[in-house]
Amino acid sequence: MKLLKTLACTALALFTVFSAHARPLDEVKKSGTLIVATEGQFAPFNYFNGTTLTGFEVELAELVAKKMGLKIQWKTLGFDALLTGLRQDRWDLVIASHGITDERAKAVTFTAPHYCSGGMIIAMDPAIRTAKDLAGKVVAVQTGTSYLENVQKVASIKEMKNFPTDVDARSALNSRRVDAWVTDRFVAKAVVDKNPNAGFKLGDMLFIERIAAAVAKGNQPLADAWSKGLSEIMADGSYTALSKKYFNEDVRCH
Ligand code: ARG
Repeated sequence: MKLLKTLACTALALFTVFSAHARPLDEVKKSGTLIVATEGQFAPFNYFNGTTLTGFEVELAELVAKKMGLKIQWKTLGFDALLTGLRQDRWDLVIASHGITDERAKAVTFTAPHYCSGGMIIAMDPAIRTAKDLAGKVVAVQTGTSYLENVQKVASIKEMKNFPTDVDARSALNSRRVDAWVTDRFVAKAVVDKNPNAGFKLGDMLFIERIAAAVAKGNQPLADAWSKGLSEIMADGSYTALSKKYFNEDVRCH
C-alpha cells in the first residue's frame, strides 16, 4: 500500500513537472503581471547597479510591459537556466540578449528582435583583430552563448575556454589567462569606454545576430502581444531615447 502511494505521488509529481504549460496571454493579463527572467550579469543590457536590476533590456521590458498593461515580476538566474525555465513554465518571458538561432527556435518561440548586434573579438595584443588572427590562440567565451558556437567554427584556434558568466570571460582576458575574448560588440564597447587604460583592443566582428526575447515554444499570442508593445515603443520615440541613453545610437535592426 505504502509503495503504491509513493508510486502515485511520484507519478503525480512527474506529471506536474512535464505537463506544465506556458501561461496563455489571457491568464497573464488576468494576473496583471508578466514574469520575466534575465541574467543580470551582462552590462549594459541586463545587470545589477548595487542591488538594483537595470540595463537597456530591463528598461525596455518595463516600457513594453507598460504598453501591454502589465507589471513585471523579475527573476534573475544563470544564463544557462533561462530558456529551459520557459519549458518548465517557471516564467513567461526571457530577455537576456539571446540571438535568434535555428537551434534555439526549436525549443522556444522568439518575439520580434529588440536590437541587432554581433560577436566581437577583444584582445590585449593589438595583433589579434580578425578571425584569422585567432589561429593558435586561446579564446574565452560565456557558456551557452552564440559566441561559443561561432568561436567553435574557427577551426584554427588552439583552445576555447568556457566561463559561467561573460564577466568571468572578460576577467580571464584582463588577467591574460586567455589571448582573446568574444562578446557582444556593445558590451565590448562599454568595457573599453569604462576602462580606457585597461588595454583592451577591439577587433573585428566575428558574426552578426538579431537579438530577441523568447517565450515558451508555441505561446505565439504572448510573443505577438510583446512584439506589438515593442513596435509601439519603436514608433513613439521612447525606444530611440532609451537606446541613445545607453549607446548614443539607435540599435534597432534595420
Ligand atoms: N548574444 C549572445 C547569445 O545569443 C550572448 C547572450 C548573453 N547574454 C547574457 N545575458 N549573458 O548567446
